Amino acid sequence: MTTAAHQQPATDKNASTKGAISIRNVTKIYDPKGANVLAVDDCSLEIAPAEVCMIVGPSGCGKTTLLNAIAGFHSITSGQIDLDGEMLCGPDKPLADQGADRVVVFQNGALFPWKTLADNVAYGPIVQGLMNKADAREKAISMLSEAGLSGVADKYPGEVSSGMARRAEIVRALINDPKVLLLDEPYRAMDALTKSIMHESLLEVYDRTRVTIFFITHDLEEAIFLGDRVIVMTTRPARTKKIVEVKINRPRDYRLLSSEEFRILVQETKEAVHEEAVKAFEAGERELA
Ligand SMILES: Nc1ncnc2c1ncn2[C@@H]1O[C@H](COP(=O)(O)OP(=O)(O)O)[C@@H](O)[C@H]1O
Ligand SMILES: [Mg+2]
Repeated sequence: MTTAAHQQPATDKNASTKGAISIRNVTKIYDPKGANVLAVDDCSLEIAPAEVCMIVGPSGCGKTTLLNAIAGFHSITSGQIDLDGEMLCGPDKPLADQGADRVVVFQNGALFPWKTLADNVAYGPIVQGLMNKADAREKAISMLSEAGLSGVADKYPGEVSSGMARRAEIVRALINDPKVLLLDEPYRAMDALTKSIMHESLLEVYDRTRVTIFFITHDLEEAIFLGDRVIVMTTRPARTKKIVEVKINRPRDYRLLSSEEFRILVQETKEAVHEEAVKAFEAGERELA
C-alpha cells in the first residue's frame, strides 16, 4: 500500500497555522532544595507558527534548559509553555508525552549505527505503531530522496559523511510531520563549508514543511542566515535581552553571507552577545575568587 501523505507536497498542509509556541514567565531552578541553580528567570517569548527562531547567548546561560522544557524533558519551576494554545509545560503539569508534535535534534548525532539510513528514518513511526514496516520504509526512502540522499538510503551511518548523517537525522525527525523542530547546536562540530551545505539543506526542508524551528547556536552567522528572528539571551539566568529581526527574503543562499545587510545584522547581534559574554566572564571570575 502506498501512503498518500508523502505524495502530497508538504506546503499543501497549511502548516503555517500550527506550531505556535508561547513561553510565558518561565523560571527554572535546578535542585531547589540543594544547589539551587537559577537557570532561566522569568523568560517570555512568543514564537509564531512556521517561524525559524534562533537562540543565542553565552555558554551556560540556560538555552538548553529552555529547549528541554519545550521538549517536555523536564518540568519548570514557574510559568507556562503552550503549543497552539495547549499547555506543554508548567509547574503542576506532569511531563508531556514525547509526542510527535515536537522533535529534538541534538548536538551529537543519534542515528542507530546498526541500522541503514532508511531504517533509521522509518524506525519512529514503526515503533510508535503509526505505520507498518513497508509503508514506513517507503516514506523514509521518499523523504531521503527529497533531501538529496536517495543514493545513500541503504548505507549505514558509519559509511556516509557526517553531513549526510546529519541530514538524515533531520529527515528522521520530520517523518511524523511534527509541528516543532527543536535543534540544539546541531552543526557545532562541522567545518564552515559543510555547515553552509547543511544550512541550505535545512532551509530547503523548511520551505517544504514550514515546521516551526527553535534552534540554539553559538554561531551568529548561522543564526542570521537561517533565522526569521534571533533571540539574544542574557547571561544566566536566561531572559531575552534583545530580539534581532531578520527581514531578509527567502529562499536564501550562501551569497547572502557577503551582503551588507547580512553583515550589519551579524554585527548588531555580536554586540549584544558580547556584552552578555563579558558579564558571564566577570561573574565567573567572582565565583572563582
Ligand atoms: N541537571 C542540572 N542540575 C543542576 N544544574 C544544571 C543542570 N543542567 C544544567 N544546569 C546548569 O544550568 C545552567 C544552564 O545550563 P544550560 O541550559 O545547559 O546552558 P546553555 O545551554 O545555555 O549552555 C548552567 O549553569 C548549568 O550548569
Ligand atoms: Mg546548551
